[in-house]
Amino acid sequence: MEIWRIHHKPETISTNLDARQGKHGDVYTAGFQISGRGRLDHKWQSPPDTNLMMSVVLSVDGLPAEQVVTLPLVVGISVCEGLSKVSPMLKWPNDVLVEGKKLAGILCERHGDDVIVGIGINVLQDSFPIDIAARATSLKLLTGAGEIVDVRDAVLRHLGENYREWHDNGFGGFYERIQALDWLRGRMLSVRQTDGDVSPICGVSSGIMPDGTLDVGGVKVYAGEAHVEGIG
Ligand code: BTN
Repeated sequence: MEIWRIHHKPETISTNLDARQGKHGDVYTAGFQISGRGRLDHKWQSPPDTNLMMSVVLSVDGLPAEQVVTLPLVVGISVCEGLSKVSPMLKWPNDVLVEGKKLAGILCERHGDDVIVGIGINVLQDSFPIDIAARATSLKLLTGAGEIVDVRDAVLRHLGENYREWHDNGFGGFYERIQALDWLRGRMLSVRQTDGDVSPICGVSSGIMPDGTLDVGGVKVYAGEAHVEGIG
């Protein structure tokens, strides 16, 4: 179990930037981000004091690169477990969905011997901008309520336990758990690859593989963004 040190600011540029000054076990949260960042240069916008925005510093010092690439999936499992009341699924690599709509997003960034794990969870937001309204949800919309601090603590509890298991024993022990959460498995999708070969791939996915890659019609995808027919 990790001992977390929580640093909260009412307003900041981005908690992922704040976390660059931290060390293993530091957690940065904010009520508002002026320039919240998402994966693949997307923005992450949230009204003030409405949602959870936090960045956790985790050490990956001494771990092999092929293990480090699986950390975002362990974070995804931890977020799903922290939100288990609403039965979320994980859309590879890093979206947490309920009823096909996005409840949370994760942005992991390497910083020296650490990974900065940025987590955004929609807690109290009950309406979304028109361009994402059909694809986004929140705990409030799903359950009628939610406490930002309770969500933070639940996710940190699971993340602490899972990080320790992953650090000491690797990704193997998580494989069965991730299969139960794998939203893309068996679906027809197209993936825009974001490293190396950038050509799009279409096919039915056999899901997340033991090395953390995504299978799409027999092709291994290392990094990218998946779109499911008719869902987006
Ligand atoms: C995504 O879905 O694209 C990832 C979104 C990650 C958002 C979180 S909010 C806390 C942390 N600080 C940031 O600027 N981004 C992450």
